[in-house]
Amino acid sequence: MKILSRLIIAGFVFLLLLQCFRPSIPARPATAEVEAPPQVRQILRNSCYSCHSDERRLAWFDQVVPAYWLARSDVLTARQHLNFSTLGSKPPAIQRATLFEAVNMIQLGAMPLPRFLALHPNAKVSPEDLATIKTYLAPWSPLPSPSPGAPAPSASAPIALDTVKPEWNSLAFDSSFESWRLLSTTDRGDNNSLRLILGNDIATAAARSGNITPWPDGSRFAKIAWQQQQGLDGLIHPGNFIQVELMVKDAARYKSSEGWGWGRWRTLTLQPYGKDASFVAECTTCHMPVLGDDAVYTLPITQAHIERAEVVNNHAAALPSTLPYQPLGWRVITLYVDPKNHSTAILYGNDTAMSAVQPRGPASSAPPAYAAGSVLALVTWSQRDDPHWFGARIPDTPQSVEFVQIAAAQNSRYRRFTGSSLSEDPSTTTQSAQRIGFILGLPPASLP
Ligand code: HEC
Ligand code: HEC
Repeated sequence: MKILSRLIIAGFVFLLLLQCFRPSIPARPATAEVEAPPQVRQILRNSCYSCHSDERRLAWFDQVVPAYWLARSDVLTARQHLNFSTLGSKPPAIQRATLFEAVNMIQLGAMPLPRFLALHPNAKVSPEDLATIKTYLAPWSPLPSPSPGAPAPSASAPIALDTVKPEWNSLAFDSSFESWRLLSTTDRGDNNSLRLILGNDIATAAARSGNITPWPDGSRFAKIAWQQQQGLDGLIHPGNFIQVELMVKDAARYKSSEGWGWGRWRTLTLQPYGKDASFVAECTTCHMPVLGDDAVYTLPITQAHIERAEVVNNHAAALPSTLPYQPLGWRVITLYVDPKNHSTAILYGNDTAMSAVQPRGPASSAPPAYAAGSVLALVTWSQRDDPHWFGARIPDTPQSVEFVQIAAAQNSRYRRFTGSSLSEDPSTTTQSAQRIGFILGLPPASLP
């Protein structure tokens, strides 16, 4: 008994002594607080400022060592990633992008940190508060007024893809990405870009079979991003090329970065992103909310029926097997968004068509001269909000599939499939010439 009470007293004294080991958490008034309406700031203050600001806001039980050490470490890390007390010094576009990321972290349950919420239930962001921030961020920022034609083609010759430098984490650039198949596309209103997400053969086969949680080793994704460009036709086309990103699956080799090798190459000269290998933390932090889906945001467009609580593929956007061709297995020439009726369209070509497509270099803004035997398919989907990313729209159900079969020069056949079962529409002959002209006239999206 005596021993026990001595132990308890000793433990108590030890804890008291530990309280002296208390490195400080620096605090100062906000120098440039995030620009946002008072009600939005109030929500952030209540739920996020404990960690993401220069204010010191600890509950009494956070002040007790060893809880204090944990809290301090969280605060210092959190400030490095995001500090609302200084964010206001960044350009408006970056502040906006950060608030979009914040909404998505909240929506996907990643922020505030779940272990923090367990002890500070009042910091939870209510659905009403989330809606308040979303309303402030919506509507999507409008695009600059239309400029004639396609974006200025790059004046210089395309970069030789086999000379592109590896990323800082030594991930090699994979120049074969251009021939991969499309898994999905996003229309990003939070930063006015259009993106294509492509998969290599292993990834495409996995997506088709539904075997994607986890994705098999050897799966590779490429995500290509272009600036949105409003055309005189009222449609939003891919403008300047921004970057291509890779994710390469090897669960053992890339264990420390969630099983994936990460890389981003920017601008037409494909410069590796970052200053050193620490750039990877940016990728994994933002992909963290979807760790349950193997860190993958994209819902691939496939017929697969996957038995899981979370929807991980986009079944509604798949095409029926009754069509004369299966364009989703073809390569992509370009895409556009119709902002008036909220649809996304992708132009695919069969191998013969693709041999005429020159997406690289000075000639890239001209429409290709398709040879006989080419078949083009323009698939149009209505859009829906991306369940994984507030600010993105993804394809919903298909509205129409249009084919142009080229038999010889000046001799093309137009076929159009519409309706909920995508059945052939026989009454389109008068429109055909106009649609053929439009489809053949679309320039390929530019690539480095
Ligand atoms: C208990 C401390 C804590 C609270 C409270 C908290 N966060 Fe975080 N947050 C972190 C930490 C730590 C990180 C770094 C993540 C990592 O290292 O995995 C982070 C990262 C982030 C990031 C990623 C930043 C980047 O680009 O690297 C965002 C966005 C974010 N938090 C938003 C929020 C929002 C919004 C709230 C309030 C609703 C919030 N956080 C509340 C600790 C916190
Ligand atoms: C601010 C959040 C954010 C950051 C930072 C980020 N990603 Fe992503 N990533 C996304 C979202 C959202 C998607 C879904 C597609 C889309 O809308 O762009 C995505 C999709 C991808 C995809 C397609 C496969 C998938 O997961 O859907 C690749 C490849 C990718 N990201 C690579 C990277 C790399 C490499 C980095 C770091 C250099 C990175 N990402 C950093 C948000 C982010």
